[in-house]
Amino acid sequence: MEQYIIKGGKALAGEVTIGGAKNAALGILAASIMTDETVVIENLPDVRDINVLLQAIEEIGAKVERVDRHTAKISGGQISLVSIEYDFIRKIRASYYLIGALLGKYKTAEVALPGGCNIGSRPIDQHIKGFEALGADVKIQHGMIQANAKKLVGSHIYLDMASVGATINIMLAATLAEGQTIIENSAKEPHVVDVANFLNSMGANIKGAGTDVIRIKGVSKLHGSTYSIIPDQIEAGTFMFAAAATKGDVTVKNVIPKHLEAITAKLVEMGAEVEEFDDSVRVVATKRLGHTQVKTLPYPGYPTDMQPQITAVLAMSEGTSIVTESIFENRFKYVDELVKMGASIKVEGNTAIIDGVKELTGAIVSAPDLRAGAALVIAGLAAEGFTVVEQIEYIERGYENFEGKMRELGASMEKVDAEDEKAIRKFKLKVG
Ligand code: EPZ
Repeated sequence: MEQYIIKGGKALAGEVTIGGAKNAALGILAASIMTDETVVIENLPDVRDINVLLQAIEEIGAKVERVDRHTAKISGGQISLVSIEYDFIRKIRASYYLIGALLGKYKTAEVALPGGCNIGSRPIDQHIKGFEALGADVKIQHGMIQANAKKLVGSHIYLDMASVGATINIMLAATLAEGQTIIENSAKEPHVVDVANFLNSMGANIKGAGTDVIRIKGVSKLHGSTYSIIPDQIEAGTFMFAAAATKGDVTVKNVIPKHLEAITAKLVEMGAEVEEFDDSVRVVATKRLGHTQVKTLPYPGYPTDMQPQITAVLAMSEGTSIVTESIFENRFKYVDELVKMGASIKVEGNTAIIDGVKELTGAIVSAPDLRAGAALVIAGLAAEGFTVVEQIEYIERGYENFEGKMRELGASMEKVDAEDEKAIRKFKLKVG
């Protein structure tokens, strides 16, 4: 088992380049098999969730060529299976996008129920409601979702909540349905827009992505395309908070500053300086940050995927802060780990009350999920002494070369095998 070992207390400084958005890439990869022609996807992050989905696409008969680390060429012309039941696919949430993609293209799909980060109950009733509205018959049997339709016909769908997954999934299926589909109360996240832009680049007719009403005029087929994925808003936000937590000075490059506004606003409120450029932001913190209140909300609100990171920073900020999680009911599991590092946090229902302490101290902690894992790394980078973060396979689902990028900013952080005591000793000797 691999783990991160971190010697905290160094101010991060320099430049870091952000990769492609994982959650956009997952939708885009699923969409890429909806044409028989070749699609080239650029700026793909090299992270576990993406590699698992590429494998799944290959297993059902698509041709996948990894042109380089961040580019894949995909041809969905020879798909022979519309049933996906590999154990590994259960591990990623976004396997459900293959239902929308296959249902749209072949009018039939069978995919194992999704897994993913355990951050709440994560139902998919809105996805199913959408497929049914388009005329599909959807059943859940033996752990599989089966969707079948004679034909798909456009429909008017009201989502009960602005679900990212349901919006993308319905958009995928509706792209190849007959007539017009309208999705009301659709999610407005940047990755929803990116998937829509990609589908349009393949010949789809989707309007309104990024607003709460999306209109899709069905087309009979899609064609090949070359497309570059937008930068990852959450990877960028994570580095911005790491910079602020360590009283650093970091320029986060290859970002769309507009997508980061909710994150930037909170950092500024807490006392950091954030300078925006065309495609980068610079975060500078010279003193201990202050307290704030934040509630996670759908875009353009403060993202739930940045909730653990802000909590980690507030744990060392001055005063009492309140963090309210309104999207997922079980996203505070990492708080016990921060408490091991000396944080003073009480969780009541969906609210964390944080009494900022002057300093966190290094400890052995375990990542309960992807973003919480990143938050523990931030805490470790700012803490006094050594921190070991276990279960980093969660972090590697969504962050490419996390330790390498942190090291380039001056962090003392290494990925080591938990059994390799020699490597651990060597690291400790090196960093003192
Ligand atoms: C996506 O999950 C992301 N995952 C999550 O990122 C992210 O936290 C989330 O959106 C919110 O931004 C991917 O894109 C693969 P939702 P998703 O459907 O689509 C409820 C990360 O760390 N709901 O927008 O699963 C649901 O329970 C991950 O990268 C229903 O009740 O999220 C939640 O409370 C973790 N029924 C809320 O809606 C449904 O049918 C929003 O979920 C669908 C959702």
